[in-house]
Amino acid sequence: MRLKGISGSIRTESYNTMLLKNIQDRYRHLVELEIIEIEHLPLFNQDEELEPPKVVKEFKKEISECDGVIIATPEYNWSVPGVLKNSLDWLSRGDRPMIGKSTMIVGASTGMMGTIRAQIDLRKILSSPGLNAKVLPPAPNEFLVIKAPEKFDEQGKLIDEKSLDLLDSVMDHFIEWQ
Ligand SMILES: Cc1cc2nc3c(=O)[nH]c(=O)nc-3n(C[C@H](O)[C@H](O)[C@H](O)COP(=O)(O)O)c2cc1C
Repeated sequence: MRLKGISGSIRTESYNTMLLKNIQDRYRHLVELEIIEIEHLPLFNQDEELEPPKVVKEFKKEISECDGVIIATPEYNWSVPGVLKNSLDWLSRGDRPMIGKSTMIVGASTGMMGTIRAQIDLRKILSSPGLNAKVLPPAPNEFLVIKAPEKFDEQGKLIDEKSLDLLDSVMDHFIEWQ
């Protein structure tokens, strides 16, 4: 299974990017996960939706050719970060490569609510007609890391056993279901 990973955070020490890297390492015997950079995507402009800049065309092609997508979203002000929404807006127009795409949502935050509000919003966005992704159902597959600084070590490895057990189960479900 060839997967692409999108982190909704572009900061260097992002816990969400760390989370994707942990998924990449831990399940490399099961899936091939490549993390796609979204920081170079320009702001969405509807004037360009049918003939977008090269970097957007390449991004859309990568999504179109993969078997599934894992999105790791931070929570910014109770929702998804603008940088993630911007990337999804590009994907929602023209050839619309997210339609029917198997998609799994995860998230990490420093707070107690662990991106749950952002994940709910992301599900809604991914259900819109332009995206219409096939999203892994939430029960029992909601994976979120609360108090992220306590759950990763200095090297960025996820070390919380409960989180790892849940992640194993959600990944199994995703692979079976996709
Ligand atoms: C603009 C902004 C808004 C934030 N809003 C929330 C929030 O609504 N809920 C939350 O749990 N954390 C919030 N945080 C804290 C993030 O969980 C924290 O910065 C986290 O590390 C971001 O993810 P990252 O490590 O992948 O960059 C916010 C952070 C920023 C910078």
